[in-house]
Amino acid sequence: MSIAAFALCLSLVLPAGRAVPEPAQSSGRTVEIVVGDNMKFSPDALTAKPGERITVVLKDVGQMPKAAMGHNFVLMAKGADPKAYAEKAAPLRETDFIVPALNHQVLAFTKLVGPGETAEVTFAAPTERGAYTFICSFPGHFAMGMKGTLTVGK
Ligand code: CU
Repeated sequence: MSIAAFALCLSLVLPAGRAVPEPAQSSGRTVEIVVGDNMKFSPDALTAKPGERITVVLKDVGQMPKAAMGHNFVLMAKGADPKAYAEKAAPLRETDFIVPALNHQVLAFTKLVGPGETAEVTFAAPTERGAYTFICSFPGHFAMGMKGTLTVGK
């Protein structure tokens, strides 16, 4: 079998054979969050139904260079400590300020954005109702109040 034919076979076979089936529809509801030089998420309050599929689009409308004023969106799991996470993330520029060792405390995150950039992440909201904190883990931003809340259910 040629490599091209083999690749074609893979592309036909793999989607059906995936261990975790994805819903055929989509990335669910899309929510745009604007960030910028004011170090705020706008909006900073999101709501979701338990298990709802959501795509967060993080849009940076700031002017300052990314190296000095980058932003990300990091949704913390229940019981995680956002302050401790932000402190551990601060030196990790090479991972866009994501802490691999604490991935179990994170439900979803985007890459870092700078002026004019967008990043997105699709995730399923937790099935457990409650308030979940999201933060920007760029150094100093959480401490300056760059955070928000995803409220699941009511
Ligand atoms: Cu930020």
